[in-house]
Amino acid sequence: MRAIEQLMQEHSAILTMLDILDAACNKLDSGTQVDPEDFEAMVGFLKEFADACHHKKEESFLFPALEQSGVPREHGPIGVMLTEHDLGRKYIRGLGQSIEAYKSGNKDATLGLMSNARGYINLLRMHIEKENGVLFPLADQRLSEQVQSELMKNFQRIEVEEIGEGKHEQFHVLLRKLKTVYLS
Ligand SMILES: [Fe+2]
Ligand SMILES: [Fe+2]
Repeated sequence: MRAIEQLMQEHSAILTMLDILDAACNKLDSGTQVDPEDFEAMVGFLKEFADACHHKKEESFLFPALEQSGVPREHGPIGVMLTEHDLGRKYIRGLGQSIEAYKSGNKDATLGLMSNARGYINLLRMHIEKENGVLFPLADQRLSEQVQSELMKNFQRIEVEEIGEGKHEQFHVLLRKLKTVYLS
């Protein structure tokens, strides 16, 4: 598999988790209780799989490789992507706090939870659309086979260092489980 292909596959897993989170928020919005542990599992996935693993692959290896190929960091697509990753981290922090409050039975916490979750969902859906539609095709054009295979090696290292060996599969198991509960 090529490096860019791996990132695209991760996008599709992240988009599924966004659909799950969206469905859970809609449930909450209609007055149905949602198990706080499910919300915790969703945020755990987004923190580890989407941020610590996927965004780290982009920030530590893909973006620098693109810069080396002549794509500017400032005032260009890379700068925008980095700003969006940071904004996403803010939403995730807020979401984590809201879930804590929701767990402790605070009725007002649902509003904060839904607004952080929906802010994050909208941001990440647009972000992924831009990467899939613009940045990744550009990377495929500019990065040689050799650079892409170097990227793959570094991506593998991130998997082991950031989330641990075998954890990737566990995330897919979680995704399938939550999909059955919220998307079927
Ligand atoms: Fe990104
Ligand atoms: Fe991405």
